[in-house]
Amino acid sequence: AARLKTRILEINRQSARFFYSCLISPQGKPALDYLHERGLNDKTIRRFGLGFAPQSWDALTRHLKAQGFSEQEMLAASVVARGRKGGVYDQFRGRVMFPIIDIRGNVIAFGGRVMEGSGPKYLNSPDTPVFKKSRNLFALNIAKSTKEERLLLAEGYMDVIALHQAGFENAVATLGTALTDEQARLMSQYAKQIIIAYDSDGPGQTATKRAINIFNEIGLQVKVLSMQGAKDPDEFIKKFGRDRFRLLIEGSANALEFELQKIRSQFDLSTSDGKVAYLKEFASYIAGIKNPIERDVYIARTAGELEVGREAIASQVDYIIRRRT
Ligand code: CTP
Ligand code: MN
Ligand code: MN
Ligand code: MN
Ligand code: MN
Repeated sequence: AARLKTRILEINRQSARFFYSCLISPQGKPALDYLHERGLNDKTIRRFGLGFAPQSWDALTRHLKAQGFSEQEMLAASVVARGRKGGVYDQFRGRVMFPIIDIRGNVIAFGGRVMEGSGPKYLNSPDTPVFKKSRNLFALNIAKSTKEERLLLAEGYMDVIALHQAGFENAVATLGTALTDEQARLMSQYAKQIIIAYDSDGPGQTATKRAINIFNEIGLQVKVLSMQGAKDPDEFIKKFGRDRFRLLIEGSANALEFELQKIRSQFDLSTSDGKVAYLKEFASYIAGIKNPIERDVYIARTAGELEVGREAIASQVDYIIRRRT
């Protein structure tokens, strides 16, 4: 089994080299243009070892065969799939390739993006003897050696790569799945604080809530970026630049503020009815906070913002707490 793992890692490394050489060869021109159009420079492309899988059923298979790898081994690495007639064919075809590299520097899997046309936008390696999706993070191999005490968590490959190119080398991404416990624990080995920078759409916000809970459970501090005018960090940086992104990080809300903003956005605070309804929700939420000083901070702030007496809100919160215990 140990020998098979070694062979799989060799296959993955050779495949990544093959994809890179295809990218910089004439056949890779559309893919290279695509990456340039998305704002990546050649240094970034090299650094992440990006590549191009040709539109072919057997280009990689033939290449690996010539290097002495067997179909069995290629199947185990999941760079090929078993065809109906018993042979094998290349798993990734006509896609821009993103190698996934573990903290030891091994290529353990791939993500492949279509440039246009049909099929799923991203195709990812399934779990293999060297890859457990739920236990790895994209770009942690680079992010782990930054001196930062915090990690930025994004959704996608392109988010992380754009962030690194813009100087935020502490960015990592989950691999097309929801954050797992194991990934959160892995992050806790390298950082005290996590800044969640998921997409600003519905699924991204739902995933943010889940992630906050997971990080809270293992005792990591959490902050949440709130991006306006862009759907994800990649787009944000392209539209507004790295300095604006830095400002976002500095202004990022803690988990509680994030939750309060969510509740608040459901009410029309320009009307008295809206204020009253919001304050009811607010009091009920704040009553769940264990630390009385923390409660007081948010009560005071909200009282000021809504121009309502602080005592009135505080007594409402106390009432709810007494009723609950
Ligand atoms: N993803 C996936 N399979 C899909 C769609 C998404 O594995 N069919 C994963 C990828 O890792 C992707 C991440 O989920 O990077 C986030 O998805 P999405 O926001 O849809 O894509 P982007 O990363 O924004 O991709 P791009 O900017 O290239 O369109
Ligand atoms: Mn170009
Ligand atoms: Mn998304
Ligand atoms: Mn995107
Ligand atoms: Mn996205």
